[in-house]
Amino acid sequence: MNTLTKLALGLMGQLKPQPPAGDAATTLALPPPRRNGGMPLMQALLHRESQRAFAPKVLRKQTLSDLLWAAGGINRRQLGGRSAPSAMNAQEVQLYVALPRGLFRYEPTAHKLEMSVAMDVRRVTGYQDFVDSAPLDLVYVADHARMRLVPAAQREAFAFAAAGAMAQNVYLFCASAGLATVIRAWFDRQALAQAMGLGPDQQLLLAQTVGLPKGEASA
Ligand SMILES: Cc1cc2nc3c(=O)[nH]c(=O)nc-3n(C[C@H](O)[C@H](O)[C@H](O)COP(=O)(O)O)c2cc1C
Repeated sequence: MNTLTKLALGLMGQLKPQPPAGDAATTLALPPPRRNGGMPLMQALLHRESQRAFAPKVLRKQTLSDLLWAAGGINRRQLGGRSAPSAMNAQEVQLYVALPRGLFRYEPTAHKLEMSVAMDVRRVTGYQDFVDSAPLDLVYVADHARMRLVPAAQREAFAFAAAGAMAQNVYLFCASAGLATVIRAWFDRQALAQAMGLGPDQQLLLAQTVGLPKGEASA
């Protein structure tokens, strides 16, 4: 769906998700993430960039596992530490994954995806047309209930900073894995919150599309 249509539907409160396609399983088990290999850090930084043309091809489960672990997985098991920082270690940013088969929430401790909404919400995650058909759109959501120790006036800023750190992890992983990605703030916040069924403590922060660069067949 093109941007103008989305803007018009948004104005009418009619920008909605689509019925899901594919497997209806409510839990998506992930293989353990590969925690070695990849591109040297300085090379990944050299290749980090935003791309906006995606092949519709689904990512392999192993790639999805590695991607989510890079974004915000547990990297210090005893402490429950994550791959990205958060103020006072509140770990308030929840990572949602919009797939054709539904919207899932990443559970870092179990390293799995739990179905949140059995709809394809990809098209609602952004006004740009590529978000509809890319294999996945990540959505970063702040859970304010986890930030009780953070002064109220700073909660939103801290959550955006934490989401930004996660998004950069995704950028670097994508650079290393030969994937395309772009972080995005231009979306209909009301339509997306509604499509995701967010609660009163949840605040939409950012979205990020990930996929193979257009024209490439596998990764
Ligand atoms: C907070 C934030 C919001 C952004 N929102 C969008 C967006 O909605 N759509 C988009 O295509 N790019 C978006 N971008 C990506 C920027 O346009 C991009 O990072 C910038 O043009 C620099 O390009 P580079 O990332 O390739 O260096 C956003 C970037 C940031 C940091």
